[in-house]
Amino acid sequence: MRILIKNIKELVQVEYQPKLRVMGKDMAQMETVKDAYLIVEDGKIKAFGKMGELTLSSALTGTSPNLGEELENADRVVDATGRLVFPSFCDSHTHIVYANSREHEFVDKIRGLSYEEIAKRGGGILNSAKATAAASEEELYDMAWQRLEEVMRMGTGAIEIKSGYGLSTESELKLLRVIRRLKENSPMTIKSNFLGAHGIPMEYRGHQEDYVDLVINEMIPRVADEGLADFIDVFCDQGFFTVEDTARILEAGIKYGMKPKIHANEMAVSGGVQVGVKYGAISVDHLEQMGDAEIECLKGTETMPTVLPGCAFFLNLPLSPARRMIDAGLSVAMASDYNPGTSPSGNMQLILSMACIRYRLTPEEAFNATTLNTAYAMGVSDTVGSIAVGKKANFYISKPIPTYEYMPYAYGENKVERVFLNGIEN
Ligand code: NIG
Ligand code: FE
Repeated sequence: MRILIKNIKELVQVEYQPKLRVMGKDMAQMETVKDAYLIVEDGKIKAFGKMGELTLSSALTGTSPNLGEELENADRVVDATGRLVFPSFCDSHTHIVYANSREHEFVDKIRGLSYEEIAKRGGGILNSAKATAAASEEELYDMAWQRLEEVMRMGTGAIEIKSGYGLSTESELKLLRVIRRLKENSPMTIKSNFLGAHGIPMEYRGHQEDYVDLVINEMIPRVADEGLADFIDVFCDQGFFTVEDTARILEAGIKYGMKPKIHANEMAVSGGVQVGVKYGAISVDHLEQMGDAEIECLKGTETMPTVLPGCAFFLNLPLSPARRMIDAGLSVAMASDYNPGTSPSGNMQLILSMACIRYRLTPEEAFNATTLNTAYAMGVSDTVGSIAVGKKANFYISKPIPTYEYMPYAYGENKVERVFLNGIEN
C-alpha cells in the first residue's frame, strides 16, 4: 500500500537525523518543508521533500521519486492543498479506563474544598475506584474505547494508559486487561502502566504499608504473570505514597521487568523526583512543586520531566517551572493526564496551547514537548513523534490554516481534519 500526500502547504516537524528526545536550546529547533510531499509505504514514512523535488533525485532515500511514477505507483493520492501536515501527538500520561465522571467534586472544589481534602474524606480516586470496581470489563472497555476514539480525532496517535482505579488485585487486573484489549484492537500505539499504588483504600488507612505489601507481594507478580504492564507507577506525594513506599514498589516492579514512570511533586516537594531518578524512571510527571535541587537532580539523567498542564489548570495549581527547566538545559514533555478527577480532557491541541500561553514555551518547543519528548516518555520515540523516514506513518492533516503557529494560537478550536495512523486513514 503506497500513499502520496501532495501539495502540502507545510510539512511540520521533519527530522533528517532522528533523535530520541530534544533538550534545552534544541527544543526550540523544529524543521519544516514548505510546499511538500510525503510518501507512505506499508504503514511507514518512505520519503518526503519539496514538491518541486519529486522529479529530481532525492537525497533522502537514494531513490529518484518522480511525480509521474509516484502517481502511477501510488494506491492513493491525497491532495493537501492549503493544509499543513503534523506528526500525531503522543500522550504519555493518561488514566482513561474508569467508570464515572466526577463533576460533583468539581463543584465541591469551586466551593472551596481542596483536592487533598476531597481525597481524605474518601472521594477522589476512591470515588472512581468504587464505581470502577462495580463495572464489568466489557463496560470499561467500551467507555475507554470511546475516549480513545475521541482523542484520536483530535490528533493523538500514541498513548500511555494507566490502571489505578482498581486498588484491589482483581480490579487492577481487570483494568489492565482492558488496556491489553485496547492495544490489540486500536490503530494507536499504546503502552500500559500498572498504577496499583494510586490511592490508599479506606480499609488500609493508618496502616498503608500493608497495602504496599499487597501491591508488591500479590499484584505485581500477577500483573507480570499475565504480561500486562510495560511500566510501574506510584502516586508519590504528600497524603499518598511516601518515598519509602515508592522505593519498595519500584524495586519490586523492576524485578518483574516493569520500567518506572511515576507521579511526583504535585502537592509538595516530596522527594518524588529524586526517588524516580534513583530508580531510572523513564519519566517523572506533574512537577508543580520543584526546587533547584529537583532541577539539578534531573540533569544528565535518562528521566523525562513531564508536565501536565490540564491538571494544573483544572485544579488551579501553581504552574510547573517548565520554562526554567528548559533554560537549565533539561528536556520537557507535556501530556494530558486525561482522568476523571484532575483533567477530564485528553485534547492535546489544548495542551499545546497551554504550553505556549501558560508556560511560555515557543510553538516549536511546545510541538517538541507534545510529540517527540512525550514519545520518549513512553519509550516509543524511535518509531513515532516526528516525520522521519522509517517511522510509523502517524500524522494528521490540518484544516486549512495559515501557519503552524496557528495551532497553539487558536486554542479551543479543533484544527485537525484527517487522521492517518500506520498509513491508514481513520
Ligand atoms: O494524575 N495525581 C494522581 N492521579 C491523577 C488523578 C486521579 C484522580 O483524581 O482520579 C493525576 O492527576
Ligand atoms: Fe496522572
